[in-house]
Amino acid sequence: MAGKIPQQFIDELLARVDIVDLIDASVPLKKAGRNHSACCPFHDEKTPSFTVSQDKQFYHCFGCGAHGTAIGFLMEYERLDFLDAVRDLAAHVGMEIPQGSYSANSAQNDSKPLYELMQQVANFYRQQLKEHPRGSEAINYLKVRSLNGETAAEFGLGYAPPGWDTLQKKLCRDNDNTQALSTTGMLIKKDNGGHYDRFRERIMFPIRDSRGRVIGFGGRVLDDGTPKYLNSPETPLFHKGQALYGLFEARQANRNISRLLIVEGYMDVVMLAQHDIRYAVATLGTATTAEHLELMFRTTSEVVFCFDGDRAGREAANRALENTLPVMQAGRQARFLFLPDGEDPDSLVQKEGKAALETRISAAAPLSTHLYEHLAKQVDMSSIDGQARLVELIRPHLNKLPSGVFKHMMITRLAGLVRMEERSLSHLLSNNERGTANTAPPHNPRPRGNNQSKQPSLVRQAITLLLNTPSLGQLKTEPQRFASLNAPGITLLIELLEMLRTSPHLTTGAVLERWREREEGRYLAKLVRQENLVPNEHQEQEFYDLLQQLHRQHRTQRIEFLCNKPTTEHSDAEKLELQRLLKEKSGI
Ligand code: GTP
Ligand code: MN
Repeated sequence: MAGKIPQQFIDELLARVDIVDLIDASVPLKKAGRNHSACCPFHDEKTPSFTVSQDKQFYHCFGCGAHGTAIGFLMEYERLDFLDAVRDLAAHVGMEIPQGSYSANSAQNDSKPLYELMQQVANFYRQQLKEHPRGSEAINYLKVRSLNGETAAEFGLGYAPPGWDTLQKKLCRDNDNTQALSTTGMLIKKDNGGHYDRFRERIMFPIRDSRGRVIGFGGRVLDDGTPKYLNSPETPLFHKGQALYGLFEARQANRNISRLLIVEGYMDVVMLAQHDIRYAVATLGTATTAEHLELMFRTTSEVVFCFDGDRAGREAANRALENTLPVMQAGRQARFLFLPDGEDPDSLVQKEGKAALETRISAAAPLSTHLYEHLAKQVDMSSIDGQARLVELIRPHLNKLPSGVFKHMMITRLAGLVRMEERSLSHLLSNNERGTANTAPPHNPRPRGNNQSKQPSLVRQAITLLLNTPSLGQLKTEPQRFASLNAPGITLLIELLEMLRTSPHLTTGAVLERWREREEGRYLAKLVRQENLVPNEHQEQEFYDLLQQLHRQHRTQRIEFLCNKPTTEHSDAEKLELQRLLKEKSGI
C-alpha cells in the first residue's frame, strides 16, 4: 500500500516536516539536553520518559516502548491509517500527493470522500428529524424517553424516514456516488444490481471516530420491531472492534478526562450525558476488545466497566476481564460496576440522578478485587486444597498480565489470601509458567551460547551507527569489499550503505520509514532506540574502523575457505585471490 506513493515524495515530505513541531502541537514538549521530552501520550505516567529527537526525526518512549516517525506518530496518536497520515502531513506543509499515485486512482481506498459522504448522510438524517412528515413521531419517541432537544443535537441524532430509496434519491448523483454509499454500508446491493437504503424508519445515532468524523450509524426502531438496533456493517471507515460510541463527544466536553465509563448502549451514553455524566462510552454490540482499551487508556488512566446485574452482565464482565488483563500496565486502573438487576445506566440515572450514580461509580470494585472475589467463590477458601486450587485458577490470569508493578501487587495479594510467603508463591507460579512465560526464573541455566556479556557484532555496531547518523553514508565506504561476508545482517548493512550513498541527507526517521512494511524495520527501530554511545566527533573514525574490521573479517573468512579447499581444485582466479589476500594480510 505504501508503495503506491512514490518513495521520493515520502522522503521529501519527511524532510519538510519537523517532528518536534508536529508533536508539540498535541503534546507540549520541553527541551531536555539534545532532545525534547514530555509525559508519554501513549501510556500513563508522572515523570516524562517520552523523548523526541529533532536530529533523528524520531520519537521514543523509554517507558512503554512506543516509537516512530512523524508519519508513525499521526498513525498512532490520531489513529489514522498510513495514507491519511501522509495526506495530513502533506496538507500541513502544503504538498500535494502526486497525481497518478495512490490518491488519484482508487475510490475504494481513498477514504476522504467517504468521510464527506458520511457527513452528508448525517446531515440529511438530522434534517429529516425536523422536516419529514413522520419526523414528529421520532421526536415524540425521544420525548417519551425523556431525551431533550439539546442532547439530541449534541449527539447529532437524526431520523431515517420510511421508504426503500429515500437516501438514495437524495444523495446518489451518479454511479460512483452510489458505489461509495454502498461501500460505507448505507446502501445494500440487490441481486439484480440495484440498491436500497439500509436504514429505514429508525432513530439514527451517528458514530464518530476520535477526530469527530462520522464513520457509521446505529439505528433504533421506534416500536417493538426487530432488530431493535441496526448497526453499520464493517466498512473501510468503520471497525466495530475499534470504535467507541461517545468518545469524541466525551473528549469535546472534558479537557481532561479522569475516568471513562464503559456502558452497553447508545441510549445509556446519551442519557448519562444529559445528566451531566459526560464520560461514558459504549462498545457497539461487541465485547470490549484490547484495541478499545488501548484507545481509552490513551485518553484516561481509569476505566470503569458498567454491567447489568444479571447473568448476561456477569458473563460480559468475564469477557471484559480477559481482554483487560493484557493491557494492565502500571498506572492504569480498571474497575467493575454491577447495576441492580433490571436496570441500565439510562434507567438508573433517570431514577436516582447524577450524584447517586456517581457514588456507585466511585465505589466500583478494582479489577484485582473483582478477579479474586470471582475466583474465590469457586473454591472453599477455608481449606488448604481450596487455597491451592485458587492458585491454579488464578495462574492463567496472572500469565496474561504484563510484568510490572501491577502484576507484582496481584501476587502480593494472592500471597495474603492463601497465606503463603510471597517469594515461594512467585517461585511456584513462575516454575509452572515455563513455556508460556516471558520471564525465566532466576535459577534457570542461561541460554546456550551465553551472548549477554558479548559486545554487539561488528555488523550490528555498524548498522546502529549508520542509522543514528545517516550522513556517514556519504563517506567512501566500498561495501563491495565485504559484501559476501558470512555474517548475520550483512545484506541489511549493504542495503543501508547503498541507499545512503544515493540519498545521504535522509534523517533516521526517513530511513526507517522506508522499512515500514518490512520485517527488518522492527529490528532497525530497536537499534535506533539504543543510546548512542559514540560521541559525535568520533563517529566517522569509529565507522571507518568498523568497516575496516569487517573487511579484515571477510579476508580471514576467504583465506580460510580457500585454504580448506584442495589446491588442485583452485581455479586460476582463486589462486590469484589467495595470493593477493595473503600478501595483503602480511602487509598490514
Ligand atoms: P434501549 O432499549 O433503546 O434502551 O436500548 P438498550 O441500550 O437498553 O438496549 P440493549 O440493552 O438491548 O442493547 C444494548 C446495545 O446492544 C445496543 O445499544 C446495541 O448496540 C446493541 N443491540 C441491542 N439490540 C440489538 C440488536 O437487535 N441488534 C444489534 N446488532 N445490536 C443490538
Ligand atoms: Mn436501555
